[in-house]
Amino acid sequence: MTTPRLGVCYFPEHWPREMWADDARRMVETGLSFVRIGEFAWSRIEPSAGNYQFEWLDEAIGTLADAGLKIILCTPTATPPKWLVDTMPDMLAADARGRPRMFGSRRHYDFAHEGYRKECARIVTKLAGRYGDHPAIVSWQTDNEYGCHDTVTSYGAVSRDAFRQWLAKRYASVAELNEAWGNVFWSKEYTSFDEVELPNLTVTEPNPAHMLAYRRFASDMVVEFNRVQTEILRQHAPGRDLVHNYMGRTLTFDHHDVSADLDVASWDSYPLGFLEQFGRDAAWKRWYVRAGDPDFQAFHHDLYRGMTGRWSVMEQQPGPVNWAPWNPAPEDGMVRAWTHEAIAHGAEYVSYFRWRQAPFGQEQFHAGMNRPDNSPDLAIGEAAQVARELADLPEAKTARADVALIVDYPSFWSMEAQSQGEDYDAFSLTMRLYSMLRMAGQNVDVISAHADLSGYKLVVVPNLPIVPGGFAERAIASGAELLFAPRCGSRTAEHRIPDNLGPGPLADLLGVKVLRVESMQPAIWRNLDGGVFERWFEFLDVIDAKVIEKSDGHPAITRKGRATYLAGWPDEAIARREVDAALERAGLTVLETGDDLRLRDRGNLRTIINYGPGERDCGHLLGKGDTVLVGGRNVPAAGITIVERKS
Ligand code: GAL
Repeated sequence: MTTPRLGVCYFPEHWPREMWADDARRMVETGLSFVRIGEFAWSRIEPSAGNYQFEWLDEAIGTLADAGLKIILCTPTATPPKWLVDTMPDMLAADARGRPRMFGSRRHYDFAHEGYRKECARIVTKLAGRYGDHPAIVSWQTDNEYGCHDTVTSYGAVSRDAFRQWLAKRYASVAELNEAWGNVFWSKEYTSFDEVELPNLTVTEPNPAHMLAYRRFASDMVVEFNRVQTEILRQHAPGRDLVHNYMGRTLTFDHHDVSADLDVASWDSYPLGFLEQFGRDAAWKRWYVRAGDPDFQAFHHDLYRGMTGRWSVMEQQPGPVNWAPWNPAPEDGMVRAWTHEAIAHGAEYVSYFRWRQAPFGQEQFHAGMNRPDNSPDLAIGEAAQVARELADLPEAKTARADVALIVDYPSFWSMEAQSQGEDYDAFSLTMRLYSMLRMAGQNVDVISAHADLSGYKLVVVPNLPIVPGGFAERAIASGAELLFAPRCGSRTAEHRIPDNLGPGPLADLLGVKVLRVESMQPAIWRNLDGGVFERWFEFLDVIDAKVIEKSDGHPAITRKGRATYLAGWPDEAIARREVDAALERAGLTVLETGDDLRLRDRGNLRTIINYGPGERDCGHLLGKGDTVLVGGRNVPAAGITIVERKS
């Protein structure tokens, strides 16, 4: 797929066959070119063991294909049917209290369960054997939303036994494990791998090294589980794009590792649900209630583009959802704006969830493009408008950005294992720095700490307690301006304090040593010029760096060469000041967008989106000689403006 396309998630098994052809016809009429099907259809594909029913699926695929639609077919492994679960009830995952998470919704399996993996291999082989070379099926989605409903970890015997085996591979001996984890502390030393339990139900907090190892193990189980399917699909469905639909703010497994087996990293974008779930404070949530957080979607677009280079939105919110604490309706036009924003960030396609609202089951309150009575709902008109607009836009390609922001999953796990401050939430700090870059009008690549850094002018590192080998060398060799937030280099790969103290392997690069740290409750601060460090502060020994600013007499911001270190958690004002200053040092132009406007460039096309509830003038984001292609200088609420830039 070279030019961006639009599609929709469809569940033929939910509707009478007589509706399929008309649905397909109307999809095409709307301007959709593909449809995703099958992710929860196991009980219809195999109603009882070995009793395969492909006839309905043949017909559904045929009907959709005959209408001219391309198809993304999913493996149905997120919803194992009841008869299968009953053959091996220990495949159910267990919650943190050790209780089974029962049949009756979805994602009811333990990733480590060998028997379930075999069952998945069987059904995927069957499906891929039958449809692998179908000309209309251009892509295969594995499972659905790994990690959704907090399903990566499981605290039952299956995961415990698999964890022990995993440990026996990671450590040469149990003595080495004891040493690595510091198990002499509180007499936790083991005499055999078989004694190691899972890090739940302990009297007080478990050993953070134990927790980190368990998180690594759980992530590896997701990678292995996915690979069982991709290996089969590569064999039986050659040349088809393999994809998985990731989610927002999901840190429980290493998406870079899973993506190594995929062609396209996709994600499910529900801006209003995410705002309700993760939004900052009440005032923020009220202001953006019908638009979503202005940076949350963009961050994930950039994050998932950084996985394989090819990415998409597999599920786009079409109206109110059903799963957040409150489920407001998007501003009219916002579905269109979200779609354009994704495409501006380089999405190969955007697919709406779902074609028609379901009159039964758990998601009855979830809007679709059509209502349950099949009358068109708002999103269908907005999708049709995007389709027309896309047809008129010139071709454009996403270029590498000047600015990179580093994301590292093990570093999130390390921070969660021992946050040392109730509100030290590394994801929020990551988002804060990302938002400041966006508000300074920057295009950003969100990349792994293992990625090539060459060519970037500024690299921002919000959270990297565990520094991968070679990172410091790559950072220096890039010649980029570097901005480090606190706690970088503060732990080893086994979650110990480095022998040389923090910032450990970054000591030479930053020229400082962290002597002592403090976390601070809300309303306790360290003052800086024009703002504060909140939540966290570090007392530095400045060995070989310039002190740029002090707080209460303590070095607070230091610089050595091109590397700047923030010894505390910056409030918004300091984050903004420091990001703007780093951009200027890097030779980049700060283009303040204003609070509600955001921009993204794709080739010569600049897309400007208004997340605020009132009209905004975007003249300051336009250049002389830019040609307006969509919208205009005044951007209404939920509006977008697309211009072709002169240079
Ligand atoms: C996603 C999921 C879909 C549907 C949707 C509702 O998390 O993949 O199946 O449940 O949310 O918003």
